[in-house]
Amino acid sequence: MNQKKQQGSLEDIPEALRDIPISPPSSSSLNLKWIMLGLAGVIMVVLAILGIMRLVSSPSPTTTVSVEPTPPSTPTPEPETVENILGHLPYEEADPSQLKAITNDGRIKLRKKAADRFLQMQRDARTNGIILTPISGFRTVKEQEYLFFEIKRQRNQDTRKRAEVSAPPKYSEHHTGYAIDIGDGQVPATNLSEKFEQTPAFRWLENNAAKYSFELSFPPNNPQGISYEPWHWRYVGDADSLKTFYEAQQLQNKSSSQENTVN
Ligand code: DAL
Ligand code: ZN
Repeated sequence: MNQKKQQGSLEDIPEALRDIPISPPSSSSLNLKWIMLGLAGVIMVVLAILGIMRLVSSPSPTTTVSVEPTPPSTPTPEPETVENILGHLPYEEADPSQLKAITNDGRIKLRKKAADRFLQMQRDARTNGIILTPISGFRTVKEQEYLFFEIKRQRNQDTRKRAEVSAPPKYSEHHTGYAIDIGDGQVPATNLSEKFEQTPAFRWLENNAAKYSFELSFPPNNPQGISYEPWHWRYVGDADSLKTFYEAQQLQNKSSSQENTVN
């Protein structure tokens, strides 16, 4: 009966197909098939991942992206700054060997070049009937310490008020040996006073000091905020003196403009 059923079922298969041997696939061809399918799967997954990555990284057709060359990364330099105290800039004390006396008693000194130019200016002024009297030249930090703190104490001045007319120690142009306070020998009562501005000596200096490379350090409304000092002149006639005063000023301007930008 089983045979009959088997025959019956064979007869159910169309003749054209009966000649094709119906044999189960061998185990080796089965393995190969699975390996091929697996490989195809892996390739498809890899291709899909690559496609997604390209989609994510490529710009949309409407977006324009300019590709700037990346500059080599260099460390940002620290902004140069210069400390100032109540408007005064720091200065180094000149070496005593660089100084030369400009008075007979040898008590008032300037740097050699500044001394020579001052003495020449003094002689030339004299021929015009003007007496330029040196009051103060080079000062040590120690001397400035006395001038700032002791006089402040004697006058009962607060620090800010004192700094309007006197530099704190280490911040005076007098340390450099290039600065000099000048009086009018014929009107000594105006020494170290704004009234010096009205003397013939001041008027002569206004018209002639530049020829000897002297300039006023603290004109009215100077950017450092120091009181007007018509008696205080500085020598700017060589590379070192120029550097001393103008480099300090530039650094000061730079750091205050940086402060303004930050604020
Ligand atoms: N009088 C000027 C500012 C000084 O003391 O250096
Ligand atoms: Zn001075």
